[in-house]
Amino acid sequence: MSERTFVMIKPDAFSRRLIGRIMTRYESKGLKLVGMKLQVMSRQLAEQHYAEHRDQPYYGDLVNFITSGPSVAMVWEGPNAVEIARAINGATNSVEAKPGTIRGDWGLTLPRNVVHASDSLDTAKREIDLFFDEANLLSYAMPDEGWLCVKM
Ligand SMILES: Nc1ncnc2c1ncn2[C@@H]1O[C@H](COP(=O)(O)OP(=O)(O)O)[C@@H](O)[C@H]1O
Ligand SMILES: [Mg+2]
Repeated sequence: MSERTFVMIKPDAFSRRLIGRIMTRYESKGLKLVGMKLQVMSRQLAEQHYAEHRDQPYYGDLVNFITSGPSVAMVWEGPNAVEIARAINGATNSVEAKPGTIRGDWGLTLPRNVVHASDSLDTAKREIDLFFDEANLLSYAMPDEGWLCVKM
């Protein structure tokens, strides 16, 4: 079943000029980009996005980091998109992230771990609503999605 998930390229990756290579991972897997926004997040937006972490000792550093420069907010669509995007990102802690995942290849420390992706369908809905107006998300079919199996 097709899902939508929220993905963000964090400021550390932006400053390291990695956004093209990172987007290629989701795109070449077969997910479909249906929304994208480049912005420097406000503190208010960052605090809402990371509300569940507000009691953690790293929260202040996390909010400072995520608002420190441009980030790329995206919505990717496809079968099992939530789980697929998390698998492409790899483990939160880059020490544990497997080579071949985004964090395994480019992450080094916390909280600067390159990317974000929603952890469930409910979270995805909440995060997509926080960053995007529905009117700015596209619904479309790729040219190859209309192919039929031709019987010879
Ligand atoms: N122990 C930690 N120390 C510093 N930053 C952390 C720590 N745990 C998580 N973070 C930061 O907070 C973000 C959100 O954490 P979490 O939701 O647990 O991970 P994920 O991004 O994999 O969903 C992480 O991606 C990371 O940037
Ligand atoms: Mg999370």
